[in-house]
Amino acid sequence: MAGKYIPGLNYAPIPIYGEISWHITNEGIHMLNTAPSGSGKTMYLNYLMGMLLKNQHRVYVVDAKNSSFGMLARHIGVQVAANTDEIIQLLTALVCEMEERYSKYFSVAGADIDANFATLGLEGHFLIFDEVLSALSAAGKKEKAEIERLLEQLALKGRAAGFGLVLSAQKLNATDLPKAITEQCQTRIILGKVVSDETFHQSTGLYKKDLAHAYRGGVGKGYAVTPQSGISYIETPLMPHNSRDYISLLKELRDRGTPYGEGR
Ligand SMILES: Nc1ncnc2c1ncn2[C@@H]1O[C@H](COP(=O)(O)OP(=O)(O)OP(=O)(O)O)[C@@H](O)[C@H]1O
Ligand SMILES: [Mg+2]
Repeated sequence: MAGKYIPGLNYAPIPIYGEISWHITNEGIHMLNTAPSGSGKTMYLNYLMGMLLKNQHRVYVVDAKNSSFGMLARHIGVQVAANTDEIIQLLTALVCEMEERYSKYFSVAGADIDANFATLGLEGHFLIFDEVLSALSAAGKKEKAEIERLLEQLALKGRAAGFGLVLSAQKLNATDLPKAITEQCQTRIILGKVVSDETFHQSTGLYKKDLAHAYRGGVGKGYAVTPQSGISYIETPLMPHNSRDYISLLKELRDRGTPYGEGR
């Protein structure tokens, strides 16, 4: 059909602010977002979800707080887990799919050792996990250990196969999350006006006093650390406030390949 636009998978870095981007095809694939309540975490996750869908990747959401984020995601056909059982089920399925991808593309004779999901032309699978610490504290001891184990698997082995983690938490102390998970999250975002020195340090690896200027966080404002850029001041994008507008925007992004006049 003349003029038919077919969406392709897009692996380009996802813009965050100015020159700062999220590079999904290298060690920056896993992201950790820290921000106190009301500082714009969920809005930022919404933005990332929109960009991943626009680039034709698969998105999965954990919304342990049962907030409007999960509702929006469900509305546009994204799988959402809210309670402990659903979270374990979703993570188990993702780890399983990752293992299948490994045995199909990476552990075969003659596989290119530099191959990754982008060089193979495969879609990325991104788990956006809002409020990871509240999900862990709501789980029983055994279930918490299982969630951590599954997240560790994805964190350790997900990069090449294109299984990315986007985690958010309100604060971060040294013992809140296993090091095996946090160390793999090489894209770090911190937002918010009031952020403790400990949280700032655990999130960025630096100390507030090492910043070239006084700390400048706020709602949707803070810092990013990426493997490419070191630490930089950022402001996160503001998304439409009206959820109906936002749902149509997300649907449009997801279906951007639909030829005009069809399905609209
Ligand atoms: N980038 C931004 N620029 C300006 N305002 C923003 C931005 N991001 C979020 N906000 C405002 O802050 C409010 C809270 O944002 P959001 O719900 O994303 O925060 P949160 O960190 O997820 O909070 P909670 O702990 O309640 O889940 C939003 O309703 C919006 O008005
Ligand atoms: Mg939130």
